[in-house]
Amino acid sequence: MRVISKEKLDEVLDGMQINDIAHATIRQCVNAAQELERISGENFVHLEFGVPGIKASQFGVDMQKLALDAGIASVYPPTAGIPEFKWNASAFIKAFVGIDMYPECVIPTVGSMQGCFNLLLECSQLHEGRKAVIYLSPGFPSHFLQAKILGLDARTLDIYDNRGDKLGPALEELMADGKVCAMVYSNPNNPAWVNLTEDELKTIGTLCTKYDVIALEDMAYMCMDFRSDRSKPFQPPFQPTVGRYTDNFAIMISASKIFSYAGERVGLVAISKKLYEREYPELKERYGLASFGDNFVLTYIYVNTSGCSRSAQNAMSEMMEASVSGKYDFVSEVKEYARRARRSKEIFFKHGFSLVYDKDLDQEVSDGFFYTIGYNGMKGSELLYDLMRCGISAITLTATRSKQQGIRVCVSMLNSDDDFVKLDERLGLFVDLQESQNVQ
Ligand SMILES: Cc1ncc(COP(=O)(O)O)c(C=O)c1O
Repeated sequence: MRVISKEKLDEVLDGMQINDIAHATIRQCVNAAQELERISGENFVHLEFGVPGIKASQFGVDMQKLALDAGIASVYPPTAGIPEFKWNASAFIKAFVGIDMYPECVIPTVGSMQGCFNLLLECSQLHEGRKAVIYLSPGFPSHFLQAKILGLDARTLDIYDNRGDKLGPALEELMADGKVCAMVYSNPNNPAWVNLTEDELKTIGTLCTKYDVIALEDMAYMCMDFRSDRSKPFQPPFQPTVGRYTDNFAIMISASKIFSYAGERVGLVAISKKLYEREYPELKERYGLASFGDNFVLTYIYVNTSGCSRSAQNAMSEMMEASVSGKYDFVSEVKEYARRARRSKEIFFKHGFSLVYDKDLDQEVSDGFFYTIGYNGMKGSELLYDLMRCGISAITLTATRSKQQGIRVCVSMLNSDDDFVKLDERLGLFVDLQESQNVQ
C-alpha cells in the first residue's frame, strides 16, 4: 500500500471528532481505520480490537441451541442465575482458581463489563463520602470510562515501576485518606500482560482489609499466563487471586475470551461469602435491603438488565462443566494467542520496535492476548498516527492510563499467515516513513 497522506488522515480523524489520537477509544480507532480502508481500498492490520478471533466453544453453542429449542426463551431468567450455572461456576472457580465460592454468591452477568459497572456503582454507595476507586494501570480503557460515567474519582497507579515491594507503599498512599471504596485490576493485565504474583495479591488483600476497600478482580484472561500450565482442573498451579488474602473481594469472570463467547454477552461475578452477607446501613436506608449480595442481585442487576440471557447462562454453565470434568481444555484452546504474540513480536523487533512493559518482576513478560510496544522513544500519539498512515491501527498506552509511551497490541485479529505478512510489510513502510521524515 501507499502511505496515507497526513491531510487524508486528519480529515478522517476530524470527521470522527477525534481531537487527540492519544485518547481515542478502541471503537473510535476501529471506525477511523474502517473509513481509511474505504478511502484507500486497502485492508488495515487491526491491532486495536479485542474480539476473540477464535471459534466459539462448541460445548456452549450446542447447549444454547438445545436450551432455546426446549422453549426457555419465553420465560424471564432468575436474576440470581439458574441453579446449574451457580453450581458449575462454583466448581469451575474451585477447579481453576483453587478457592471455595458458594454457589449462592455467584451471579451471571451480561458480560463481565456489566458485572464491573454494577459492582463499582454498589461499592460507591456503601459509605457516605467514599467515592474514589483505584485502578492499577495500564488497564482496560472501558473500566476508566465506567468510573467517569458514575462520577467517581479514579486514582491510577502505574505498575510499571510499582511492582513487588514497591506496590504496598504506593497503594497505601492512595488509600490513606479513607475515601477509596474499591480497586479494580485485571490479572493477567490488559494490556501489559504482566501477572501479579500471589505475594503482590497478598499485599493488595491485606491493604483492602485494613482500609475496608473492596478488590474487584477481573479475570477476563484467567489461566492465560502460559508460562505455567494451568489447564488441569483441581491441580495447582492455580490462577492467582486476592481471594486467598481478604474477604473484601469480588471476582469477575468473562466467557468472552476464555470460551471465545463474546457475542452472547455472558460472564459472572463471584462475591466472597462474608462480603455477600455483610450489611450496610446506607444500603438499607436507600433500598430497604441491607446485604451487599442481595442488593447486587435484587437492586443493581435487577433494574439494570433483569438478569442475564437464560440460554447464554445454559451455554456458559455447560462450558464450565465441560472444563471442570476435563472434557474441554479451554486453556489449550486459547494458547493460540501466545503463538500469535510470539510471531508478531518478532516482526516488530525486526523493525526496531521494543516492548514497553518488558519485565514481569525479574522475568520476561509472557506471550498472550496483548502486549505493549514502542519505537525509539516516540510519543504514543505520534507513533499511532504514523502507524495509521501505514495501515496499522491500535490504541495508545495513554488511552490505557499508562504513563509510558507506546501502543497496545492486541493479537486476536492476526488470524492468518497473510495478516503477519501484511504486518511485516506495513512496519517496513513505517520505518521508511520515519527515515524520510528524519531527512526532511
Ligand atoms: C480486562 C477486561 N475485562 C473485561 C472485558 C470485557 O469482558 P466482557 O466481554 O465479559 O464484558 C475485557 C474485554 O476486552 C477486558 O479486556
